[in-house]
Amino acid sequence: MNSFELNKILGALLGTCLVLVAMHIASGAIFTPEPPAKPGYEIAVTSHGSPGGAAAPAAPAETPIATLLASASAERGAAVAKQCQACHNFQEGAGAKVGPDLYGVVGRPVASATGFSFSAALKAKGGTWTFDALNAWLAKPSAYAPGTAMTFAGLSNEKQRADVIAYLDSLSPNPVPLPTAQGAATPAK
Ligand code: HEC
Repeated sequence: MNSFELNKILGALLGTCLVLVAMHIASGAIFTPEPPAKPGYEIAVTSHGSPGGAAAPAAPAETPIATLLASASAERGAAVAKQCQACHNFQEGAGAKVGPDLYGVVGRPVASATGFSFSAALKAKGGTWTFDALNAWLAKPSAYAPGTAMTFAGLSNEKQRADVIAYLDSLSPNPVPLPTAQGAATPAK
């Protein structure tokens, strides 16, 4: 093999290499930028705009008071009831303040406490203070007995209402038994 032939062979090899490199670059430039399966912005949309996030969860249906009472706490209720003390006494025989004494109010006929002059609105309600009645009353007194003298806005938190009712129930020599978790399906009447 003379040097001329060697040059041809090396040249051919070099040429082949150059062609391969060029093809590699070309194929890379043409074929590499595949569109990503999921563009970045779409991931952002999915995380922020999922169907669950778009529709706010509907307001929870009102929980029956029996269910709430099954996990209520008279101690927590006593703390919440501090705001009632501006107008109510809770001790037996302590008498009326702005409102009637609330000792033993659970199971007592509505507007029947002695030594207090009830509004016509509350007297007209009649019935007894059941758990259900107290729950409705304490949610919004002005809606339960329009024209009532109890100028208290109400307790909008149903758990707080249940706690206060459990506390009111404890203010008695014989508290009305609170519903248990098992009996919670049967509303207290
Ligand atoms: C601003 C004063 C005020 C506050 C605060 C207040 N009440 Fe009263 N409450 C009254 C008045 C006045 C009445 C009598 C209503 C009537 O005659 O219409 C009353 C009546 C009641 C009755 C009916 C009693 C019965 O013998 O029929 C209950 C039960 C009661 N309140 C519970 C509560 C509870 C529990 C709270 C606190 C969460 C509270 N009240 C906060 C003024 C108040």
